[in-house]
Amino acid sequence: MVQEFGSTCLVARAEDGIRGYVFGFVTPGGTGYVHLIATRDDARGTGLGRRLYTAFAEAAQRHGARTLKAITSVGNTGSVAFHRSLGFDATIVDDYDGPGRAMAVFRRDLPLEFPRP
Ligand SMILES: CC(C)(COP(=O)(O)OP(=O)(O)OC[C@H]1O[C@@H](n2cnc3c(N)ncnc32)[C@H](O)[C@@H]1OP(=O)(O)O)[C@@H](O)C(=O)NCCC(=O)NCCS
Repeated sequence: MVQEFGSTCLVARAEDGIRGYVFGFVTPGGTGYVHLIATRDDARGTGLGRRLYTAFAEAAQRHGARTLKAITSVGNTGSVAFHRSLGFDATIVDDYDGPGRAMAVFRRDLPLEFPRP
């Protein structure tokens, strides 16, 4: 991911190390797809996840993205709540990951209307 999509793989660093990251890419159809996003335990709830998504959205738009998409497991209630807070629609899609394997699918249009942190 980082070798091929480095301009949309972003890391939040501080004096005490890496606090979070978002890795993604832009599809040929104009979707900014977030492959993974995570913030360090002691950085959660501080707005870092939102700032990472804002930075990803801006990078993805520079590469032609018009929408954002991410997926997570149905049981990841924290991720579902996080994405809803960021204005994503969350849909449970049956068989997304193969027969009997539903996933939560998040989508939202660009541009984001978050205030610049
Ligand atoms: C999901 C994750 C990235 C959120 O990062 P974060 O830095 O805590 O997020 P923020 O502080 O920027 O929160 C942004 C918004 O999401 C909400 N939110 C974040 N985590 C939440 C949770 N577990 N439950 C409910 N709401 C949550 C915040 O309340 C905030 O809402 P607000 O701005 O309306 O007040 C982080 O919890 C994480 O790394 N989780 C483990 C990895 C993971 O599940 N990644 C997602 C896989 S797709």
